[in-house]
Amino acid sequence: MSDSASLKIGDKESGYPIRSGTIGPDVIDIRKLYAETGCFTYDPGFTSTASCDSALTYIDGDEGVLLHRGYPIGELAEDSSFMEVSYLLLNGELPSKDELDSFTYTISRHTMLHEQLMQFYRGFRRDAHPMAIMCGVVGALSAFYHDSTDIADPDHRRISSHRLIAKMPTIAAAAYKYSVGQPFVYPDNSLSYTGNFLKMTFGVPAEPYEVNPVVERALDRIFILHADHEQNASTSTVRLAGSSGANPFACIAAGIACLWGPAHGGANEAALNMLREIGTPDKIPHYIERAKDKNDPFRLMGFGHRVYKNYDPRATVMQKTVREVFDALKVSDPVFEVALQLEEMALNDPYFIEKKLFPNVDFYSGVILSAIGFPTTMFTALFALARTVGWVAQWNEMISDPGQKIGRPRQLYTGPTQRPYVKIGDR
Ligand code: ACO
Repeated sequence: MSDSASLKIGDKESGYPIRSGTIGPDVIDIRKLYAETGCFTYDPGFTSTASCDSALTYIDGDEGVLLHRGYPIGELAEDSSFMEVSYLLLNGELPSKDELDSFTYTISRHTMLHEQLMQFYRGFRRDAHPMAIMCGVVGALSAFYHDSTDIADPDHRRISSHRLIAKMPTIAAAAYKYSVGQPFVYPDNSLSYTGNFLKMTFGVPAEPYEVNPVVERALDRIFILHADHEQNASTSTVRLAGSSGANPFACIAAGIACLWGPAHGGANEAALNMLREIGTPDKIPHYIERAKDKNDPFRLMGFGHRVYKNYDPRATVMQKTVREVFDALKVSDPVFEVALQLEEMALNDPYFIEKKLFPNVDFYSGVILSAIGFPTTMFTALFALARTVGWVAQWNEMISDPGQKIGRPRQLYTGPTQRPYVKIGDR
């Protein structure tokens, strides 16, 4: 490919450099476009816009490839751990055994919340959505950890990143405990990151809690699958919030708010609700017809993706994990059968084939989480817990970039042109 692109507006031509990454599409660097032509580019939803340089995660949506720092997600999900993937995302390389032990130890030393922060929970209604609580409590961390909010100081950035990764399970588990009226369970640092989260969620002070290793592994894998996903809506929100110099806790709270939406992280909750509503395989054709009907707002939740125009590689791992969890817990849930048959019918339907709509990560994750015992309202909170590592890694990458600027998109103005103000008595 050529190393520059030219743009002709009328008889004036301007040239723009083309930049190449290590893999993936080249980008046309149009930073001087406005200065040279007086025009903006127009790209609502950023379908053709790269907003930053990033060395963290690569997706090839046509081929169904997802790499973290070059490593395929399938291999990481199979052989790695969430702590190891967290280290990888934050530091760029896989850790040695000592580095991993030291990182895991450091994270475990930040799992407790300031005791006063626990008072926050009591201000929420018992039926508050866990994501509402997460937005509030994570944002409030900035009021408690002043000693790590100087974003110009790499040590502060590292400590706040560790704090966020470490405290997120405690915050999410406490949101759950509050909603079911049970006492908060404090962290147990003798357990793994994921085992500790399971204990804080399902344990009670009155009884010993045994972590089921199959469930622990399955949930850890779910965390790996959700750890990062390039410049998605919530990550871009974190970057945009961070670009103004906002503190990391506030930025992650912004990411949580964005993730909550049903077109993003809220889709796993919506997907399971949909599968339950369908109920039995005989109803599937009706719902497929509804999804295809342009006059019906219904969509197959857990299907389709902005970037993947092929099977989401995370959905493949999820489907396998459902079986493992069902076998280990000896549960059977008719929604799994509905999910399998719905997937098969949709993948053979010309509408879904033509639009390249495949199951995404959320299609099966709800089925697993439900089998483990999480209520649907917790699904997105679990997603937020895992994605926190991606958010902080992306935020750190952005802040460390010397060319970083405040994010400030422009617009195509379609409102009234200038007109004189008319006093209220004269209208
Ligand atoms: N069911 C039925 N039709 C769909 C679906 C679906 N799930 N997804 C997309 N389509 C159709 C659209 O109606 C549209 O049709 P048209 O071209 O005739 O108008 C076409 O496919 C393209 O859809 P867009 O919404 O333009 O695609 P976009 O890239 O903007 O949206 C999105 C992607 C939001 C994920 C969409 O596929 C969707 O709403 N899916 C359901 C929600 C979901 O599962 N979200 C989770 C995403 S993964 C994640 O966030 C972790």
